[in-house]
Amino acid sequence: MRKQIAAANWKMNCTFQEGEKLMDNILEANISLSDHQLAIFAVPFPYLLMTRSAVELEKNYFVAAQNCHHQKSGAYTGEISAGMLHSMNINYCVVGHSERREYNAETNTMLAEKVNQCFENFIIPIFCCGEPLNIREAGTQNDYVAAQLKESLFHLPADTIKNIIIAYEPIWAIGTGKTASTAQAQEIHQYLRSVIAGQYGEEIANEIPILYGGSVKANNAKELFSCADVDGGLVGGASLIAAEFIEIIKALK
Ligand code: 13P
Repeated sequence: MRKQIAAANWKMNCTFQEGEKLMDNILEANISLSDHQLAIFAVPFPYLLMTRSAVELEKNYFVAAQNCHHQKSGAYTGEISAGMLHSMNINYCVVGHSERREYNAETNTMLAEKVNQCFENFIIPIFCCGEPLNIREAGTQNDYVAAQLKESLFHLPADTIKNIIIAYEPIWAIGTGKTASTAQAQEIHQYLRSVIAGQYGEEIANEIPILYGGSVKANNAKELFSCADVDGGLVGGASLIAAEFIEIIKALK
C-alpha cells in the first residue's frame, strides 16, 4: 500500500517548552503506526533536535524541517542548507509551502534547486503545490498546479521522484477554516497523479503519496483521507493541539 502520512506543520508557533509538551502529549497517546503509516513533525529549526530525540524510539515517527536553502553552502547569513539538516539526521523537509512562495518570493525554478539539494543530501522533500482563490474561481487550478509540478519536479529522474511526498494545499483553504470538499480534493489529487503518470508512468505515479492540506481538523480528516488519492494530510493549526493531531493520525488509512 502507498504510504499514508499525517504531517504536522507547526509554522512559526510554540515556544520550545510548548513544543516539548505538545510532543509529550501526542506521544503519550501511544498510537502504533503500521508499516505504511507515517507521522512527520515539521518544526522550527531550533526545535529539530528536541523533536528528533522525542521520536527516536517510535516506529514511523519522523521530523522535518520547514525549509532549506537552494544553494549547497556559502555566504547566506541566517540560512540553513540541506546538508546541515542531513548532518543532524533529519530525513524530511517541507519545500515550497505557499507561505514561503508568497512572503519569500520562492519561484518554481528556485524550488527545483531546493528539491535537488534535498535529494543530494538524502532528505525527502515534502513538496507543496496549490492554487490561490482567483485561480480556483477562474477554474484553471489544474493547469496551475500541473505547472508547479512540471517546473519544480519533472527534471528529476524516475528513480528519484518516486521517493517524493507531494502536498496539495489550496491557498484559499489554509488557515481559513474552509476545507476543500472531499470531491474537490479527490478530483485534483487524481489529476495530479495523472500528470505524474503522463511523465513517469502509472507505476511511479501510484507510489507517490499526495497529502491534502488546508484546514484539516480532527472532525474532517477521516472523510478527506478516505478519498482514493488522498494519502493523508499536511496540517497547520490543528497540529498544535495534541488531541486534534492524535485524531488526525488515527484517521490515516
Ligand atoms: P491549516 O491546517 O492551519 O489550514 O494550515 C495548512 C498548512 O498550511 C499546512 O502546511
